[in-house]
Amino acid sequence: MDVKKILITGGAGFIGSHVIRLFLNNYPTYQIYNLDKLTYAGNLENLKDIESNPNYHFVKGDIVDATFINSLFEKEDFDGVIHLAAESHVDRSITNPLEFVMTNVIGTVNLLNAAKHYWKSFEGKRFYHVSTDEVYGSLGATGFFTEETSYDPHSPYSSSKASSDHFVRAYNDTYGLPVVISNCSNNYGSHQFPEKLIPLCINNIKNNKPLPIYGNGKYTRDWLWVYDHARAIDLVYHKGKEGETYNIGGFNEWQNIELVKTLCRLMDKKLNLEPGTNEQLITFVKDRPGHDLRYAIDANKIKKELGFEPSVHFEQGLEKTVDWYLANEEWLNNVTSGNYQNYYNEQYTS
Ligand code: NAD
Ligand code: DAU
Repeated sequence: MDVKKILITGGAGFIGSHVIRLFLNNYPTYQIYNLDKLTYAGNLENLKDIESNPNYHFVKGDIVDATFINSLFEKEDFDGVIHLAAESHVDRSITNPLEFVMTNVIGTVNLLNAAKHYWKSFEGKRFYHVSTDEVYGSLGATGFFTEETSYDPHSPYSSSKASSDHFVRAYNDTYGLPVVISNCSNNYGSHQFPEKLIPLCINNIKNNKPLPIYGNGKYTRDWLWVYDHARAIDLVYHKGKEGETYNIGGFNEWQNIELVKTLCRLMDKKLNLEPGTNEQLITFVKDRPGHDLRYAIDANKIKKELGFEPSVHFEQGLEKTVDWYLANEEWLNNVTSGNYQNYYNEQYTS
């Protein structure tokens, strides 16, 4: 029986909650520890269905607090760390870069230090950093990011994630810490905080509010269903080679304006509205500063080496996502009633 004690950081957030659910389902002999500070983006409601699972343990704490992190590693002999805790929203990083340095860089180094110090032997251990394609910067009209693409981050968010990736590799090169990294494209799905494009638009359509499109709307992202990202994380954690990087993506590029129009049409149907009703809410607004034009992932390495392929087409995944948000009005009301701020309103309207 393969018994493992795994620390998942940021498990109360969007992707982390899906990863925890998937690991509890796939590995009934594992003990899963969720370490989360519960910022505005972290919400234990995301894990309500599994909170009484005896293999699940929640630890509230801040990865920036080195004393706390060290005492946790001293107490619990983790076999592995899957590190997702981060400040994740680009617009917020433009307003408050230092918070991103603290959590994404210092927090990551605190975890690396604790693993290096408290893991008596590195045999059988693994430190997995879940990262982003934004570290590679921006593409023109053609081409893809591969694992060999040079880092060229532009936003404070992507700079902080690039820095943490470098620290993770440095701990492998310098101290032999067994690490693995993945860099994934834009995720969408249930439980995503409604500040990101897709849930923000779903929420605004529900409330008959404008759908803010930054700049000319021709910016392009590669979208992957969050459950498929969780499946890829499972593969990388268990089968990825030490010291390697894996790009994760859906080969699914959409210009923002086309994506939002598709969402509008889908929600016209779901809400029994006249075709074209929701498109009238589209409002072009001032651009995001330093906005990356296009991201596109070459996900051939993870496909060839680990056998990963997305399980749903975008239209299917989008419909599942819309259905979830429409069925979970209480969740949406709860997460938007606290210190939620719509950064479009705050920053980009002149
Ligand atoms: P999220 O913002 O939904 O969740 C982040 C979680 O981290 C929250 O639960 C929050 O409470 C927790 N957290 C934040 N600061 C913390 C701290 N100091 N100490 C402990 N916990 C803290 O983020 P997400 O979208 O689920 O992203 C998870 C990870 O995946 C991030 O590292 C992000 O960079 C990466 N990623 C995200 C995407 C995406 O499209 N969302 C794509 C690729 C990679
Ligand atoms: O690529 C992976 C990254 O994807 C992750 O690392 C980040 O954590 C995640 O937030 C996401 O970053 P983006 O900046 O691409 O996501 P966001 O949903 O904020 O924006 C998607 C695109 O839509 C981007 O081109 C900006 C645009 N946009 C966004 C919002 C919130 C708008 O036009 N209007 C909006 O209101």
